[in-house]
Amino acid sequence: MKTILISGGNSGIGLQAARAFLAQGHQVVLLGRDQRKGDAALASFGDAAGRASFLAVDLAIHDGVRDAADRLLADYDRLDAVLHSTGVFTAKEMRTADGLHPFFAVNYLSRYHLTQLLLPALRESERPCVVMMTAAVPPTDASDFDRFPDFAPFGLRKDRKPIQLANHHYAAHLGRTEPGLRAGVVNAGAVKTDILRIAPWYMRVGAKVAGPLFFDSAEKAAHNVVEACLRDDWNAPTYWGKPGDFERRTPIILGDATTQRLMDASRTLVGA
Ligand SMILES: NC(=O)c1ccc[n+]([C@@H]2O[C@H](COP(=O)([O-])OP(=O)(O)OC[C@H]3O[C@@H](n4cnc5c(N)ncnc54)[C@H](OP(=O)(O)O)[C@@H]3O)[C@@H](O)[C@H]2O)c1
Repeated sequence: MKTILISGGNSGIGLQAARAFLAQGHQVVLLGRDQRKGDAALASFGDAAGRASFLAVDLAIHDGVRDAADRLLADYDRLDAVLHSTGVFTAKEMRTADGLHPFFAVNYLSRYHLTQLLLPALRESERPCVVMMTAAVPPTDASDFDRFPDFAPFGLRKDRKPIQLANHHYAAHLGRTEPGLRAGVVNAGAVKTDILRIAPWYMRVGAKVAGPLFFDSAEKAAHNVVEACLRDDWNAPTYWGKPGDFERRTPIILGDATTQRLMDASRTLVGA
């Protein structure tokens, strides 16, 4: 039985992945902000709820990530997989208490920070892995990181890609620095979830009108992250770009200098 941490596990694709892990006999720990959604998620698991737990944490701020890691390390000596499915989607200029934009703080930095703090528990696993959910962003060096990490003022159109690509750089970094730990990035595709609740109005209207034509199911969106966490037939940092197709993989090969620069900046921000 694997112990799998799912940040963003009380909702959407992360919750769907939790159901799949439980159905295969594994244990899950869910993170999210909303206690009521966490309780509802646990209640929906039926008999499997005994293998599930939920922690309410705010991963948008450094102290929230530290609090989550402290509580997890107190309860779990070993984690076999960490699935990062937290996400916010907003075009507004706003800042967390740490002075960062939430899109950056949640969709990238919390993943770096939480994983770094949980490495002692991951190293206890025979085949640990870290999987990060993003959008359709294939690994490429053709991106401009000049605005990293402040992204001020925030612009969704120009800042979305470098923030999402920072996940690929972190996967590459883990592949180089943590022997035995597998790290991957997965495109979620397009799914009707809570992610659009603070999205720009035109996107919410677009999703309502055209969504039924192009939305994937949550099962299809969760397929690749579930396979990545449970299967052993991949090793090097990998990007899965096509929802529902685990065999279509792209190796994450990026310029070392950029990866190092982003990791140095991330470490400076959070101290881990
Ligand atoms: N759905 C799509 O079409 C789509 C497209 C591209 C990428 N993605 C990515 O797929 C992943 C899963 O998203 P989803 O579609 O399943 O959306 P979702 O249902 O809104 O799930 C997002 C999760 O993140 C959690 N979260 C957000 N801010 C947090 C914070 N500050 N601290 C702790 N947890 C926080 C939410 O918990 P609370 O609700 O408790 O805050 C929720 O569990 C995200 O990374 C998203 O960016 C989704």
